[in-house]
Amino acid sequence: MYSEKVMDHFNNPRNTGDMENPDGIGHVGNPVCGDIMELYIKVKDDIITDAKFKTFGCGAAIATSSMVTEMVKGKSLADALKISNKAVAEALGGLPAIKMHCSVLAEEALSSAIDDYLKKNPTRNTDALRKLHKTPHHEETE
Ligand code: FES
Repeated sequence: MYSEKVMDHFNNPRNTGDMENPDGIGHVGNPVCGDIMELYIKVKDDIITDAKFKTFGCGAAIATSSMVTEMVKGKSLADALKISNKAVAEALGGLPAIKMHCSVLAEEALSSAIDDYLKKNPTRNTDALRKLHKTPHHEETE
């Protein structure tokens, strides 16, 4: 049912735990299942230099949050905002259709962390970033 990569990131999640003095904190929850995800980022010169997460949720939510923290490191804020839940699921070798909604949590946690950073650093919030924030791009089914 799950790909090897999903099982790997579920059994050995990368970048878990607290981050000291994060520049942005994302906090999201799935109202249907009640799962919760927190994602922390460090940002320097509009580049995400580090990312960590804590997920209280299902295996797919843990695997996708682990993968998204790997994917964002070294990316600009603009490129990070373009990461869709589908891209995260694909990087994991796919997710069963009924678990695609779990990957939405990872995309939203990242977006929420970037949002928090931009609220704390309004001078970094460009029109282009505002536009990206307003463009929902997640897909719940494959
Ligand atoms: S079942 Fe809740 S995020 Fe997966």
